[in-house]
Amino acid sequence: MFDFNYFTPTKVIFGKNTENRVAELVKEFGGKKLLIHYGGGSVVRSGLLKRVTDSLDAAGIGYVLLGGAVPNPHLGLVYEGIELCRKENVDFLLAVGGGSAIDSAKAIGYGVANEGDVWDFYDYKRKAKACLPLGVILTIAATGSEMSDSSVITKEEGLVKRGYSSDYCRPKFAIMNPELTMTLPDYQTACGCTDIMMHTMERYFTNGGNMEITDAIAEGLLRTVKKNALILRDDPKNYEARAEVMWAGSLSHNGLTGCGNDGGDWMTHKLEHELGGLYDVAHGAGLAAVWGSWARYVYKNCLPRFKKFALNVMEVEDSGSDEEIAIRGIEALEDFYRSIGMPTNLRELGVEPTEEELKDMAKKCAIGVGGEMGSAKVLNEEAMLAIYRASV
Ligand code: NZQ
Ligand code: ZN
Repeated sequence: MFDFNYFTPTKVIFGKNTENRVAELVKEFGGKKLLIHYGGGSVVRSGLLKRVTDSLDAAGIGYVLLGGAVPNPHLGLVYEGIELCRKENVDFLLAVGGGSAIDSAKAIGYGVANEGDVWDFYDYKRKAKACLPLGVILTIAATGSEMSDSSVITKEEGLVKRGYSSDYCRPKFAIMNPELTMTLPDYQTACGCTDIMMHTMERYFTNGGNMEITDAIAEGLLRTVKKNALILRDDPKNYEARAEVMWAGSLSHNGLTGCGNDGGDWMTHKLEHELGGLYDVAHGAGLAAVWGSWARYVYKNCLPRFKKFALNVMEVEDSGSDEEIAIRGIEALEDFYRSIGMPTNLRELGVEPTEEELKDMAKKCAIGVGGEMGSAKVLNEEAMLAIYRASV
């Protein structure tokens, strides 16, 4: 077991109609002039944005609006948001939406609170010293950005998708009403469940410092999401299942399922980020498409963990060699992905990269991780290329 810091300062307001408390929460955290940031319009169509602005109007809180954060949110809109905040003297950000709106808001917050080009942080050139305070009203259970320290932005020039992490951007509050997720397309619900499971799996498949209590939480979370993803596939309006998945999404990426280990593997995410940057695929689907190839490439180097996962999460038959059990677990997760409509390779994801494009992604991925990375197995550019090739 390794030493660890556990820092989750976000105040969570969970349950039905909780969005009605937005003005009270903004006041509690000192917001006087807000930038309300949202995505492509789902919050307009659902009427949520109107309910939010009505509450703020009634409480006398000023705001400006900026929509348009796309999945794999763009740097261009971040620059626009920074300028708008400066012009309007915004002192608090409110993201209404999913990971894309939240991450874009976090980037705007860094840009306003620090001098210079905000991309420098995502390009690992320097570190942020502050971020504007941020609140969230979550509409999709997926990224965990509502409690996480990360933000992922795509620079249009060169299609480079990069994440930046620091505690400064952890939201002050997160309003989570599972009912708000009921308007999601089934595909997005499934992508969200996949991403939630991956955030715990990235922390689970490691070769360092694992703790029994962390494993028990992680395995319980994974079984819960797996079970409720199937319930939502058949019954998308099931409130209890929506709630289980939504809370799991936050716990999966607020640090809880990594306490005591070496920080996790994270290579499936890094491999996906190149796909998201280049082909603009949904994050969860991209993860599902490369996971199997990653797992088959690394499992022998992390066999006890793959065996434990197979038995305790996928609940496969406990017979044969450790390798056979591990492979059975990998296959069982792929079967699960298919059962919720997720791809298990790039073709099913809908992309057909050329050999040159595979090489380009492997190169960019290696640069993005500073050469090599991974805990289940350390991967270099050659290994990344082998995994991309196997996932075609
Ligand atoms: O843009 P709108 O119109 O709102 O539509 C969105 C979008 O098309 C729609 N949607 C969201 N809530 C809805 C809804 N449609 C109907 N009803 C609702 N209630 O769903 C689509 C996806 O939304 P998005 O915010 O893009 O999804 P997600 O939350 O999966 O965010 C994905 C982004 O987050 C990054 C990903 O890489 C990707 O860029 N990640 C962020 C992380 C973090 N900050 O901690 C960690 C993750 O690993 C991830 O990398
Ligand atoms: Zn993710």
